[in-house]
This record gives sequence, C-alpha cells and structure tokens, in this order.
Amino acid sequence: MEKCRKQKYFLQVFGCQMNVHDAEKLAGVLEKMGYSRAATAEEADLILLNTCCVRENAENRLYGHLGNLKPLKINKPDLMIGVGGCMAQLPSVRAKIEADYPYIDLLFSAFNLHQIPELIMKIRETGSRILEVPSEGQIIEDLPVTRNSPFQAWVTVIYGCNNFCTYCIVPYVRGREQSRRPEKIMEEIRGLAMAGVKEVTLLGQNVNSYGLDFPAEERKDFADLLAAINRIDGITRIRFQTSHPKDLSDKLIRQMATAEKVCEHLHLPLQAGSDKILKLMNRKYTRDDYLRLVEKLRAQIPNLALTTDLIVGFPGEEEADFRDTLDLVEKIGFDAAFTFAYSPRVGTQAAKMTNQVSEGDKMDRLYRLIEVVNKQAKAANQRLEGMVETILVEGPSPKKKEIYTGRTRSNKLVLFAPPETAGDLIGKEFKVKIKKGLTYTLQGELIK
Ligand code: SAH
Ligand code: SF4
Ligand code: F3S
Repeated sequence: MEKCRKQKYFLQVFGCQMNVHDAEKLAGVLEKMGYSRAATAEEADLILLNTCCVRENAENRLYGHLGNLKPLKINKPDLMIGVGGCMAQLPSVRAKIEADYPYIDLLFSAFNLHQIPELIMKIRETGSRILEVPSEGQIIEDLPVTRNSPFQAWVTVIYGCNNFCTYCIVPYVRGREQSRRPEKIMEEIRGLAMAGVKEVTLLGQNVNSYGLDFPAEERKDFADLLAAINRIDGITRIRFQTSHPKDLSDKLIRQMATAEKVCEHLHLPLQAGSDKILKLMNRKYTRDDYLRLVEKLRAQIPNLALTTDLIVGFPGEEEADFRDTLDLVEKIGFDAAFTFAYSPRVGTQAAKMTNQVSEGDKMDRLYRLIEVVNKQAKAANQRLEGMVETILVEGPSPKKKEIYTGRTRSNKLVLFAPPETAGDLIGKEFKVKIKKGLTYTLQGELIK
C-alpha cells in the first residue's frame, strides 16, 4: 500500500450510465487504496478503461484508444493499464488483447470491481498479466463511491437484463437480472440526501422489472420503490432509466403521476414502428400496445416529456417497415430520440439473420428519421416558450463558461445568463422563463 499512496489513476469511460456509475465506484475503490485522480492519461500510473460494446463503433473506438496508450507505456514501463466493462466480457476481445496488446496488464468486469485492489497488488508483485474475468456474480454492496456531482447521484436498482432483444449484446455481457435489496437502496439514498444530494436517477437496463426476482411473499416492485423513495426528505427529484414498454404497469403509471418528486420525463425505447420488426426484435409489444401506453401516460401525466431509442436497418426491414416507424414517430411526437443504425453484434440472434440491410439503406433511413425527430424536438421545445419552468442548476456550460445550464423536471437543458453571484446557484432549484425553444436546448431567463 505504501507504494500506491502517491500514485495517480486515470479513468476513461464509454457507454451508458451504468458504466459511468461503475466508474464512480472504480474511482472510490482506487481512492480508498490511496490513489489520487490524474488530470491527464500522461501523468497517470494506472489507466483504467470502462468499455461498451453495444455497437460496432464502440468496439473500434476501444482499439483506437488502446493504440494511443502504447507510447505512454513505452515512456513509463511501470504504467499499469486495465480494460473493464462490457467489452472485457467478450471472448473475442479478451483473445485479441491477450495476443495483440501485450501492454494491457489487467482485464476486469462489473462483477469484480471490489477485487481491483488485490488484482493490482498481485500484478505489481508478480509482474504478470491478469486476464481472467468473472462473467457473473452476486451484487456487491457497500463499495466506496467517488461521485461526479455533489447534488445529483446515480443509484443502481437492478443489474443485468433478461430480455434478449435479438439485436442486443447487453444480456450476454451484463448477466441476468438481479434486483438490489430495497433496504440497501433506501439506505444509500438516505445517505445521499443527508450529504446534500437533491436528485437521484435510478438505474437498470430495465428498471420496470425491479423486484420480480424476489420471492413472492416479500415482493416490492418498482412502483413500491418509487413510493418509498418519494418519502425521503431532502431528495426533490427522482428520475429513472431505462423502462421497457412491456413492463410499464398501470400501477407504475399511477405512481409516476402521484409521487410528486418523480419527474415528468420518461425514456421509453420504442426501437421500431413496424409490428413485423418488433416481433423479429423480440420486443414483446406491438405498435398499438405502445400507442395505447403513450395515451395512458399522457392522460395521467399531462406535461410528460417522452424520449425514446430507435433503430433503423434491422435485418429484414423494408422501406414499408421503415415508413411504419416514421409514421409512429410522427403520431407520437417525441421530445427527443436517440437514433441508431443497426449494428450486428456477434453472438446475438439478429447477427445470424441472412437478410441484413445494406449500409447505404441504413444511412438513408437514419437521416430521414433524424430529420423527423429533430423537427418534433424543436416543436416540443417551442411549445414551452413563454412558460415558467423549475430548473436544477448544473453550472457553467462546458462550451461557454459565461452561460449556465440547468435541467427542467422534464429533463430539458436550459441555457441562461447567470447574475453576478452565480456561484450560489449551482445545485439549487430556480424558476426560469423559457425564451426560446431550439432542437436540443431551451434558452431561458432566471426569474428573480
Ligand atoms: N436497456 C436499455 C439500453 C440498451 S442499449 C434499453 O433497453 O433501452 C441502448 C440502446 O442502444 C437500445 O435502446 C437500442 O436502441 C440501441 N442498441 C442496442 N443494440 C444495438 C445494436 N446492435 N445496433 C444498434 N443499436 C442498438
Ligand atoms: Fe438490450 Fe433489450 Fe435488455 Fe435493453 S431490454 S438491454 S435493448 S436486451
Ligand atoms: Fe454499453 Fe454495456 Fe451499457 S454494452 S450500453 S456499457 S451495458
């Protein structure tokens, strides 16, 4: 340990919020060992990458980054480099790192974050690489966490995924669903509230199936969990992601509508608007099911912002299927959407399908979809012009320091000019008048 005390770590994170939060745990574990955070990779003694493999470009980016790290290792032979996260779960990636990247010392996964200290010590002592990665394991509680923000916090409620959407690699790299015990979640959020956290975002690949893996007699579902968190003093905003349409129960919608701290925003991935494609994707709902859900949600939560994920070019998608997606998207009118071109992932069902869509068709559809999505997003934001919204102030905009940003309860980013004493605003809620709605942001004015 003595040796580690003056050492510095550098973390690079790719992928979803689960990975971002895992990196907060990694930072916590390393700081407990005595490491401090390095400002750049160049000054680090330990570099850890937390990776994502949900699409092919994520994978290619990893190899690019690994290539960039090679000169650092040549300059500083003591430098230790580790690769963790979802890519490290793939046998093909492990084989490639073992064979072609001899300067990578360690592979790790979300299942052995707690063992990082002993793994690092072992590598230091023996000088040999550790490349075995556990692909499953129990939930690890009570890890130290170094959080990125003092007033907003991620809290995992369920790990893994059982859904096996046919395009998706996540169930293969994150294991089966495991819900955290409700008392552990409550204990964590109470602690956060005491430390000044205002907003919690509950995380899981599918938060709606929270608790379904508990024995029936002690079952607490996601709606029950929201109700309990809603009663914690100090927390003013509760968010969650991601929801699967097939598990969004009436009870949960009612809870969202009645629990006043639960924000008026739902990220509800649609993926496609054609019943044929939804079936091939194994999503277990139809376009009608989704439409009915949206009607129910909007009837009970009138100012709900709805965002989604969409994939174009799934195997077998024809122009008519894509038009169904465009049509449904137009009917619903999302506040924002993440749009993806289908990317075959080895090991998934869809990658084996023979009727893959050409790259040209995928790109053509992607651009047409983005155009519709952007038009809707802008229209939704313009409808807020003149309205008063409560924002939680996040701080100066990374791009323009003299402009501040904050988020509405509906999760829209508001840009505003802060008054002189701007330092006092961060982490607090204020009212703003919306002046202008743009495609990705709102411009607002602080109400004194
Ligand atoms: N559990 C979450 C997040 C999954 S990954 C959920 O179910 O929504 C986030 C998004 O990536 C998915 O919603 C999907 O739209 C997209 N995605 C997943 N696999 C993909 C693939 N092979 N190609 C393109 N997009 C993909
Ligand atoms: Fe992937 Fe589907 Fe699970 Fe989401 S619900 S992580 S898209 S398999
Ligand atoms: Fe990527 Fe793993 Fe998240 S594959 S999207 S980092 S669960």
